[in-house]
Amino acid sequence: MPYDLTEEQRDRYRATSIRSQLRKQTLLRGYDEAKPVLGINLGERLDPDDLMPQLEVNGLTSLSLFSGGGGLDIGFERAGFEHRASLEILDICGETLRANRPDWAVLSGAVAGDVRAAAFTTFRGVDVVHGGPPCQPFSIAGKQAGADDPRNMWPDFVRCILQTRPRAFIAENVPGMLDQKFEAFIRDNIVDPLSSQYTIFKFKLAAHDFGVPQSRRRVFFVGFRAARDAARWVEPEPTHGDVGTLFGPLLPRNTARKTLGLPGMGFDVVAPTLRSGFTGPRNTTGVLNSKASLKVWNDLHIWPNGVQPTRSMAAAYPPENGHFRMSVSDCALLQGFPADWRFSGAVYQALGQIGNSVCPPVAYAVARQVARALGIA
Ligand SMILES: C[S@@+](CC[C@H](N)C(=O)[O-])C[C@H]1O[C@@H](n2cnc3c(N)ncnc32)[C@H](O)[C@@H]1O
Repeated sequence: MPYDLTEEQRDRYRATSIRSQLRKQTLLRGYDEAKPVLGINLGERLDPDDLMPQLEVNGLTSLSLFSGGGGLDIGFERAGFEHRASLEILDICGETLRANRPDWAVLSGAVAGDVRAAAFTTFRGVDVVHGGPPCQPFSIAGKQAGADDPRNMWPDFVRCILQTRPRAFIAENVPGMLDQKFEAFIRDNIVDPLSSQYTIFKFKLAAHDFGVPQSRRRVFFVGFRAARDAARWVEPEPTHGDVGTLFGPLLPRNTARKTLGLPGMGFDVVAPTLRSGFTGPRNTTGVLNSKASLKVWNDLHIWPNGVQPTRSMAAAYPPENGHFRMSVSDCALLQGFPADWRFSGAVYQALGQIGNSVCPPVAYAVARQVARALGIA
């Protein structure tokens, strides 16, 4: 939707944008990636792999639908599942998955990757199906049209479950989906078609409860075909939180500045939710999700706009207010992606994949509990 701006505001923004472009050109003139800029965020950074230690192969296979840049896929892989295939309509996401895991079967693009056109029978026998059907039909950032939204792909997720008959399924979505107004949608599109064959659980998780340095909530639906497996299901317990309480989680929350290796300045909290770059204004290189979150980023002295492709380029081009400018890898770290995971595409496409993803440590926590319910110790 176009922003509702007055001519005067438009002129002001245009002038700011031109000034900022000129400043960028001046600062980056003669910039050489081979000679990184020194002296910025040299502290120890969080290693997301520590939040999800690689488990031994557990003998269970997983099929990934709507895979995006691989958040759920990474969590399941690190929890010991064997990746069977990923289906994703965007080529750029497919490139990310193939570049990071050349041995994975990745079906991507408008023909091979479209879940709506997929014949799932070839995947019969897979143990687990997981996926995040597009969330715009339920997102508070959208119009919340639910079943009437052409992007509602729950029917295809359900078709996959009915055709492949996995032992378990996991679906992820935005918390808005649990609003009362979508009760009938959930009943008609998920519960009714599946409940005669699956016992279904739904629950919310917060990424910052699992060591991710970001405030981010997601809804999960988990279903089990066998009553014995359903009886063993236990929701993931937070691992991080307010320390010092009697039954509280064990570890303190990870905060944004510390995670990024920035020097202490007396204030540090989890980062606000990173915006999903494939929604809203196109091709933006900002991660700002709301007006309210701008205050938090400001207090953190972290600049949520103009994310750069590399850390040294971000350091060579600090914002005028002197705050820390982020690179793609900083945003990936705030989302809990392993440090060696690379996103294909331009900055806006990388941010789209990051902001759309399930934080891998959260996916890992769910995957572990699913494996336990399926009888893996
Ligand atoms: C919420 S994101 C999923 C993120 C992913 N679960 C993760 O953890 O990284 C939804 C994805 O569905 C993809 N998608 C949308 N329509 C699709 C379709 N018809 N077939 C396959 N993928 C589709 C989008 O391109 C987007 O990457």
